[in-house]
Amino acid sequence: MTTTVLSGLSEKVFSFKAVDPPLTEITPPQDRAFSADPEKKSLLSAARQVKHLTPYIGTEIVGVQLSQLTPQQKDDLALLVAERGVVFFRAQDLTLEQQHDFTEHYGIQDRDPNQVDPRHVTILGRGGDIRQYGRTGSGEYHSDHSFEINPPAYTLLRVVRTPEFGGDTIFTSQTALYDKLSPTFQKTFEGLHAVHSSDQYFLNAVNNDVKTFRYPVRNEHPLIRTHPVTNLKSLFYNPSFVIHISELKNQEAIHTLNFLREHLHSADDLSVRWKWEPGSVAFWDNRVVVHRAVPGGYNVEEREGKRTAIYGEKPFYDPKGQSLSEWKETHSL
Ligand SMILES: [Fe+2]
Repeated sequence: MTTTVLSGLSEKVFSFKAVDPPLTEITPPQDRAFSADPEKKSLLSAARQVKHLTPYIGTEIVGVQLSQLTPQQKDDLALLVAERGVVFFRAQDLTLEQQHDFTEHYGIQDRDPNQVDPRHVTILGRGGDIRQYGRTGSGEYHSDHSFEINPPAYTLLRVVRTPEFGGDTIFTSQTALYDKLSPTFQKTFEGLHAVHSSDQYFLNAVNNDVKTFRYPVRNEHPLIRTHPVTNLKSLFYNPSFVIHISELKNQEAIHTLNFLREHLHSADDLSVRWKWEPGSVAFWDNRVVVHRAVPGGYNVEEREGKRTAIYGEKPFYDPKGQSLSEWKETHSL
């Protein structure tokens, strides 16, 4: 997609006709992580090695093929993903068909507004300079289509081809971003709502002849959300799609969003950077992490991945949720 800073109204935009109607709210099936063993024994005992990559986010499981997991192991994996934000695997033999089946175990297949095949999105390489990307799509931090009424929960990206270097993805924990706020800011942000918009995503697609199927949407989601399984509170912010805070006046919102972007971009300690190889998989909880694919410096033709995701619940805030620090008093990992 484009590397321009802003994409605006044009003849193409005025003549655009949506093929599909807007999405309406659904209640997804119960999160599979509710069926996990809290110790995740069936999954972890099958691994040759379980490597936590950073203190706050990211675990690599070595010696397991996703194509061979039992239903119990898949459920255990959901809980691990919910707790660690993202779980990585290398050298996977998963076929595209098996990836579709694997995703279906977790719920209803989600559909991105630009998604051509109903079962997966093809992710390609990205050029340009990371500094060019403002609030214009996936060169900047985002959680995938957070602007929908039911943004995705578990999301899997399997990389098929990748350059020898370049095209890494950085994942950052929004659970930890919430935890690192001062108690005063935590209290201030709880109960506020962020406006998530696909306006710019839509304009970029139409102006760059990328197929898109729905009109742009805006949805309000809690700025602090609670995870239905872990009961952890997390920030639910990203600079690609959040354009306003509903309860604030305009200037207050602009400065708050600028603070949040700086809070996110300063979070090296709450992030993991993943280097892809052919057959690598990242499986993340899109409700509680943001990510960015680092663009530029490589031949974009050499990078291709397949992404599948399921609909999450409509984001909610439960004041009885716990911060990560509180949670760690009774949990290890
Ligand atoms: Fe993404």
